[in-house]
Amino acid sequence: MINMNKKTIFSGMQPSGVITLGNYLGALKNWTTLQDEYNCLYCIVDMHAITVRQDPATLRKSSRNLLMQYIASGLNPEENIIYYQSHVPAHAELAWILNCYTYMGELSRMTQFKEKSSKHNENINAGLFTYPALMAADILLFQTDVVPVGIDQKQHLEITRDIAIRFNSIYGDVFKVPEVYLGKAGAKIMSLQDPLRKMSKSDSDVNATISLMDDPDTIVRKFKRSVTDSFAKVTFDEQNQPGISNLINIYSAVTGDSIETIEREFEGKGYGDFKLKVAEVVIEELRPIQQKFEELSKDSAYIDNIIKENAKRANYLAMKTLRKVQKKVGFPPIPK
Ligand code: TYM
Repeated sequence: MINMNKKTIFSGMQPSGVITLGNYLGALKNWTTLQDEYNCLYCIVDMHAITVRQDPATLRKSSRNLLMQYIASGLNPEENIIYYQSHVPAHAELAWILNCYTYMGELSRMTQFKEKSSKHNENINAGLFTYPALMAADILLFQTDVVPVGIDQKQHLEITRDIAIRFNSIYGDVFKVPEVYLGKAGAKIMSLQDPLRKMSKSDSDVNATISLMDDPDTIVRKFKRSVTDSFAKVTFDEQNQPGISNLINIYSAVTGDSIETIEREFEGKGYGDFKLKVAEVVIEELRPIQQKFEELSKDSAYIDNIIKENAKRANYLAMKTLRKVQKKVGFPPIPK
């Protein structure tokens, strides 16, 4: 499957709970459209997930569900490498090395660290702090050209680039310096209950998020209840109408229609009508994904085989970079 003429994409999601419409529109949907053009690796980053305490049985189940959601959303597991991070030990090994080329000052500036450490202040562990070095390892292991993510991960991409450039300046061209890819719409989907905060799988308010697995009635109910304003105009104005702007953004990311087209289509219409229309397009987008997920859930042997085969392919590629890095920093080879 590795085509030397194609560039490489790497991206991943944490299997910490059911993924949201934000994860789907910010990342997964773009992954499916990019998959033909690039050699792609899509990882289930279970090692990142344990920076926050997880129940082991739940983590195992969410990891498998996430893998099935990747495939159900349209990622081809034969063309792409879809695998668990913990099945490829090179991630941890490279992360350790990169930790030694990453500064405390850089890590302490990371917004995600600040947010997560204030949210989990009973468990501010070293892994949470050095999380970006592991993320840099994920990306740099595969000589990645492009990383499609939502806006919240942009800062982690910047530090990845800084680490790669720093390492290369000492040892020569070891790592490709990756570019971030943000979709036109959908790169930042906000909470339905507080449109100033991003939609997040860990939100305790179930009405704030749409899950990839929500049924049609739930989706309609959540959109109907979504927080808007009293302007009664379907216009994109993030400053004054963040709730409606978020719904326009969702509609645009799902349908591909531009913001201007959407504003024109709903001119003079009420919020009730618009909310129902947004719910409708989201339901139709998720329906085939949910059906495919159900089918995949019944085919355990098929999923097991994908996990096994893809771990082999990822390990093979990862070892190429890891060996090169080990040699560069001066680790001795095992004598023949
Ligand atoms: P995670 O698991 O939080 O999110 C997975 C992807 O979903 C995007 N995303 C969103 N996009 C738009 N609107 C939202 N409300 C929203 N919420 C989440 C994220 O930007 C991300 O693209 N650190 C990463 C996982 C990771 C990774 C990597 C990503 C680990 N190693 C290497 C890329 C490359 C994370 O926690 O994503």
